[in-house]
Amino acid sequence: MSDTTLTQRFCRLTTDLVVRQPRLWSLLRRPMRVIFDRLAPQWDELRSSTDAYAPYEAALERVGPPPKRALDLGTGTGGAAFLVARRFREAEVVGADLADLRHRVRFEIADASKLPYADASFDLVGLSNMIPFFDELDRVLAPGGSLIVAFSGGAGTPIYVSPERLRAELGRRGFSDFADFSTDPGTALLARKRAQA
Ligand SMILES: C[S@@+](CC[C@H](N)C(=O)[O-])C[C@H]1O[C@@H](n2cnc3c(N)ncnc32)[C@H](O)[C@@H]1O
Repeated sequence: MSDTTLTQRFCRLTTDLVVRQPRLWSLLRRPMRVIFDRLAPQWDELRSSTDAYAPYEAALERVGPPPKRALDLGTGTGGAAFLVARRFREAEVVGADLADLRHRVRFEIADASKLPYADASFDLVGLSNMIPFFDELDRVLAPGGSLIVAFSGGAGTPIYVSPERLRAELGRRGFSDFADFSTDPGTALLARKRAQA
């Protein structure tokens, strides 16, 4: 039996047990947390392979009146919490989860054209369906750092810059080691910022 099947069976068993007897959670909490901590890095990938939030979204459409405060429980990487926030523009949305991503993930308001970060503050900068501001990308990336520019729908993505243009702009700023990726229809370019001279 594969690890995935075992994990899925364990989750189902835990759910069945805890729904019947909530006190059993004190025993099962630890292994469940380990499972989801392990899954966290791939969670969004697993989600996006199916229309994972479609039923939640369908139900949200029927919610009324608009909530002022909303809580998404077991929020994982926050996908459903963001759906709620997008649908109810006035709502304060809280995503709560057992797995603690807070010490590693935080969200900030920032304009990519003028970032509030010191020079060379990141080793990896990623953009997914986002307009690249090349000077700022160059400034905040540490020497030798990596840049990913990805477009979910390739050339059909509303926000899209061709690989040729990306290479030209980045090459001019000293980036190299370019690599192209295609996930049909998705595309991505990986580039490395020049190491310190
Ligand atoms: C199957 S994932 C679902 C994540 C997200 N809601 C989604 O659909 O993409 C279940 C999530 O619930 C969290 N979780 C499980 N038990 C929890 C609990 N008792 N309290 C808070 N979060 C819990 C896990 O850490 C995990 O992130």
